[in-house]
Amino acid sequence: MNTRLVFDDPAAMPTGLLAVFAVDIAAGKDAESHPVLLTTSDAVARAAEKVLGSGEFKAGLGEMVLVHAPAAIKADRLLVVGLGKAKALSVDEVRKGAGCAVRAAKPRGIRDVAIVFPEDRALSDEHLESMPCTLTARALVEGGELAEPDWDTYKSDRKDTGVWALHIVSRDHERKTVEEIQHGFSEGLVLARAQNFARGLVNEPGNVLTPTVLAQRTQWMCGEVGLQCVVYSTEKLLELGMGAFEAVARGSAEPPALIVMTYTPEGGAEADAPVLGLVGKGITFDTGGISIKPADNMEKMKYDMAGAAAMIGAMRAVAELKPRVKVIGVICSAENMPDGKAYRPGDVVKTMSGKTIEIINTDAEGRLVLADGLHYAKTLGCTHLINAATLTGACVVALGYLNVGVFSNDDDAWGQFLTVLPRTGEKFWRLPCTDDYKDGIKSQIADMVNAGSRAGGAINAAMLLKEFAGDTPWLHLDIAGCAWNEEVKPWLPKGPTGIAVRSVVEWVRSF
Ligand code: BES
Ligand code: MN
Ligand code: ZN
Repeated sequence: MNTRLVFDDPAAMPTGLLAVFAVDIAAGKDAESHPVLLTTSDAVARAAEKVLGSGEFKAGLGEMVLVHAPAAIKADRLLVVGLGKAKALSVDEVRKGAGCAVRAAKPRGIRDVAIVFPEDRALSDEHLESMPCTLTARALVEGGELAEPDWDTYKSDRKDTGVWALHIVSRDHERKTVEEIQHGFSEGLVLARAQNFARGLVNEPGNVLTPTVLAQRTQWMCGEVGLQCVVYSTEKLLELGMGAFEAVARGSAEPPALIVMTYTPEGGAEADAPVLGLVGKGITFDTGGISIKPADNMEKMKYDMAGAAAMIGAMRAVAELKPRVKVIGVICSAENMPDGKAYRPGDVVKTMSGKTIEIINTDAEGRLVLADGLHYAKTLGCTHLINAATLTGACVVALGYLNVGVFSNDDDAWGQFLTVLPRTGEKFWRLPCTDDYKDGIKSQIADMVNAGSRAGGAINAAMLLKEFAGDTPWLHLDIAGCAWNEEVKPWLPKGPTGIAVRSVVEWVRSF
């Protein structure tokens, strides 16, 4: 999709579909609520007049009404998109609204879409403050770009229903505002395309995207954006003493991949400056291994590399946005399979850090590869760690599909992460991993077990990772519930979400 920013009167846009937002406003105390358009273009307002006055359209979030051959404007169709109650309006609704416009165009075969930048008298000062035009522009691009893919590449009868061009149309001509909008627009484009890159990786089936292929695609991407990238396999794992990572990989005919991406800021990093470590779980397929999973829903486990994809996507955006901080991405990729060579329950493995782990369940493999990945990142000089992983079903039980579970050994690290979230619209919820939970990973014969009781399952996994983060400030994102969209939404197709890409990038930029 060719996405661009236009400064013009939206009424003058010759396009297949012009989308304009509306909010539900209640003027005065007992006044009835009614929809109000978010545009300063009188011609666009006139084109929507009849529909808005009909009472059929309430401007609920995701509610849409389409007008053909609208009078007074150049577009073939006018789409009014509801953003919900005016009082609750934020950039998150704008992001979804932009997605709605693109999703509505696709089944109709409309190739060219324009979205009116929400500019209006109806927006209160309060809104204008919480929705600076930079973030609004960013949300528009993100929403539009994320709504476009349909993940149907493997359908032989797939119809090309792609939107080819998306125009964001703003009437503003004040220099400062124009610059802010341009800035937000280009940031949004980088973030959304990095996120779509991550989603594309997650969408690939396990037979296509093996650890080796994940490494290849990561290397191509790194070459494109100018990141340093080195890929290792079994030999290096053995050399480094990554006994946990290597144990997980051993049951598969596919060799593991340890992928290291490095971003160095222009002019190099100062000696005592922070170095950020982005660590991702890259299990390209999780059968559970010898502790094999039930057949029901096992096919979903191709998404068990979504944490890796998120970090790879984040590295791509980092390379393009060029923050002034050094960032190292460490991806631990393997396939978890049952086999004559596979690791087994009861085994004791020795990690790179020297700590030993008793294997109780070979399906608790993610924490094993991350244990070595986190430690390795520290040896590369990382002073701050963040990891993303589809780590536990228990986290899905705890938080559902809306919030990512976050665990941290450092209140300040969590505090800093919280401050960036309003810019990204992604939802995260902190769960505990205080030392009083340590009993959950106690082992009879080794330093810890890899799987404890089902009670607090997401916490037990975090407790194990915490052992390897040590004193280094660390954030663990359990994205198991949020990495795959199970239910189609008016602004988003079913499939991989690319969760955490935007927030990890914003976190990096907050240093
Ligand atoms: N990849 C899974 C986590 C998962 C399970 C994500 C279901 C989404 C849905 C992970 O490797 C796993 O199997 N975890 C086990 C841990 C258990 C054996 C301690 C789980 O959550 O059941
Ligand atoms: Mn597993
Ligand atoms: Zn897994």
